Amino acid sequence: PAPGWAIDADVVVVGSGVAGLTAALRCAAAGLDTVVVTKARLDDGSTRWAQGGIAAALGEGDTPEQHLDDTLVAGAGLCDEEAVRTLVTEGPDAVRRLITTGAHFDTTDSGAIALTREGGHHRRRIAHAGGDATGAEISRALVEAVREAALHTIENALVLDLLTDAEGRTAGVSLHVMGEGQHDGVGAVRAPSVVLATGGMGQVFSATTNPSVSTGDGVALALRAGAEVSDLEFVQFHPTVLFLGADSEGQQPLVSEAVRGEGAHLVDADGVRFMLGQHELAELAPRDIVAKGITRRMHEKGAEHMYLDARHFGAAMWEQRFPTILAACRSHGIDPVTEPIPVAPAAHYASGGVRTDLRGRTTVPGLYACGEVACTGVHGANRLASNSLLEGLVFAERIAADIAEVRPPRTEPAGAPRAAGDPVPLLAPEARTAIQRTMTRGAGVLRSADSLAAAAEELETLHREAAADAEGDGAKAVVPGVDAWEVTNLLLVSRVLVAAAREREETRGCHWREDRPDRDDAHGRRHLVVRIAPDRT
Ligand code: SIN
Repeated sequence: PAPGWAIDADVVVVGSGVAGLTAALRCAAAGLDTVVVTKARLDDGSTRWAQGGIAAALGEGDTPEQHLDDTLVAGAGLCDEEAVRTLVTEGPDAVRRLITTGAHFDTTDSGAIALTREGGHHRRRIAHAGGDATGAEISRALVEAVREAALHTIENALVLDLLTDAEGRTAGVSLHVMGEGQHDGVGAVRAPSVVLATGGMGQVFSATTNPSVSTGDGVALALRAGAEVSDLEFVQFHPTVLFLGADSEGQQPLVSEAVRGEGAHLVDADGVRFMLGQHELAELAPRDIVAKGITRRMHEKGAEHMYLDARHFGAAMWEQRFPTILAACRSHGIDPVTEPIPVAPAAHYASGGVRTDLRGRTTVPGLYACGEVACTGVHGANRLASNSLLEGLVFAERIAADIAEVRPPRTEPAGAPRAAGDPVPLLAPEARTAIQRTMTRGAGVLRSADSLAAAAEELETLHREAAADAEGDGAKAVVPGVDAWEVTNLLLVSRVLVAAAREREETRGCHWREDRPDRDDAHGRRHLVVRIAPDRT
């Protein structure tokens, strides 16, 4: 349907996590008329679930160069070194600016920022807040700053498509808003700069640490707009998610790597520390290695999970340092003070996304991306723990600086925005579970040519059925709404992810092929870039 309402701005930021709100605050501070749109409420995205913290070379003796080295090793040969260098050198000041914006980090007795360790870091480098509630504190501080700055925000606003002008330049977004007074129904924010900060796509899988809103909306929008997307095969599985049963689906409670950073051990049911001897850092090896170590041991033992043993922390340390995790475990009947925690890997982070340059520009003029939705090149084949909040901060600031410098003139969208379901067939919301189970079976932590081929076939069937229903007599027409769009987006990003995982015939970083167990540097040191002609999705 044609937009029922339209507003004009210089910048529209889509998403309200660390990346989106930082971009919006910095754009507004530069005098740009900025609108933030977000699919649910301002603090509903992944940021507020982040536990361990934010990595930056803030400690005595640490340097950006050492942070760079650890990031490149974790990235398994696919990081863009210039992007990493930008991240690690601009990171410490970006964290200090976040503190100025209002975020309170935990401090030592002498008042310095307290730092912990996580997988792949050779130093204590992770700043945290509220013990293990870092994301919640960052989200609180940024939402408060956005309210204080009286930024124009529209909640419950699902972005449908990018609008472009006659030259193919960005001209805004169309969106569907539910119950926000004057902006209700389908409308448009017209702006020459659009910043995608929609977060990840963990909901592609049955069990994930991501909240239910993480459905790959930004990557799907970018694909429909003809932007380049890269590295989607590299889905990171967090090694230690509280195990709630083999068929537990949806968002699962995270048990932060910082628990291992403070000395917890991974053990099997016999109490054997199986990561010893697998890597010099044992339990603190990069995340892909630990996730693989746990999965292998599960297979060897025929077990559904392993254990994280941190009984030696004692009650006082648990209560003070990890209150969120302690409460989550206890609410599920597990007391980490007296028993080991059952853990298993679950989908956690999309290392790939919408391809950008160092200014956050995508391949569509005027369209930017930052945070988990983006592929800036800093993560390569496997993101280093706690680099994601930092990436959101650093590249959001770069994007704001670029828009403030360019200040593109406002422009008119060309043509009418397409109607829902045209030409993208909308999927019925019930397909969500089928997609998630297909992806978990075929493209999960351990993949093979056969499992991926089966997943591709099942996804194509869902796509064909949706297209046939859309072309039918209308009896099966899907009502456009958030649920239907989310599932439609999940299907699109799943199809592209599986296609990339089939093409990458090697094991690298968090892409683990049991039929191709070795890294193949002769063929694999390249990014798989996807661009679909607009309207061919
Ligand atoms: C964690 O606390 O283990 C998550 C950190 C991250 O994903 O970077």
